[in-house]
Amino acid sequence: MTHLTIEPSILYVGTPVALLTTVNEDDTVNLAPMSSAWALGDVVVLGVGVSGQTAINLRASPEVVINYPSPEQWESVERLAPLTAADPVPSHKQARFRHERAKFTASGLTPVPSELVTPPRVAECPLQFEATVVDADLDAKGNFLIAQARVVRVHAAREIVVPGTSHVDPAAWSPLIYNFRHYYGLGPELGESFRTETPR
Ligand SMILES: Cc1cc2nc3c(=O)[nH]c(=O)nc-3n(C[C@H](O)[C@H](O)[C@H](O)COP(=O)(O)O)c2cc1C
Repeated sequence: MTHLTIEPSILYVGTPVALLTTVNEDDTVNLAPMSSAWALGDVVVLGVGVSGQTAINLRASPEVVINYPSPEQWESVERLAPLTAADPVPSHKQARFRHERAKFTASGLTPVPSELVTPPRVAECPLQFEATVVDADLDAKGNFLIAQARVVRVHAAREIVVPGTSHVDPAAWSPLIYNFRHYYGLGPELGESFRTETPR
């Protein structure tokens, strides 16, 4: 393998897409795609652009639902991609984004009430984490809010749960992957970790 030294403008190597629901200051609901989200135990760390409405909402109210779409939902996700609930549209976004508060209508997705937090879940997403932000700080450059969201309730579609357990079946669940700004699903299974709770 020969390696080139390159200077890519993005470093999005392929992470699951999440749809974050938060509450706007006018009590409407915001829905925004995010791929900078990873789990540390029961906390999901979120990296959210500081000028977007989601960051504004998370600073005003700590409640959020982290909804994970499946690969078939990529077009709904992409319908949300050029939208921001922020008004005015932040200056660096003005060329390519437009203001929109009715994000559920725009995406064709459906809100359903959560059980422990105010923002609704996304009905079409097989995995939904209700969460509360327990800590939030700016990144070193001040461009992103790094929010630690403690998951307080997990909802999983019956089809992706190993019957009679709390385990998500990796053979039944597939995330939507954001790979250098293109959408992918997972390929076939390659193997399993020695720590798997769902051995074949
Ligand atoms: C698939 C996908 C993944 C994204 N991941 C992130 C992310 O991790 N962090 C972020 O700040 N913006 C991310 N964005 C961009 C936001 O969705 C975008 O800034 C949007 O306008 C935010 O909406 P809001 O201002 O209403 O919160 C992503 C967009 C897409 C389409």
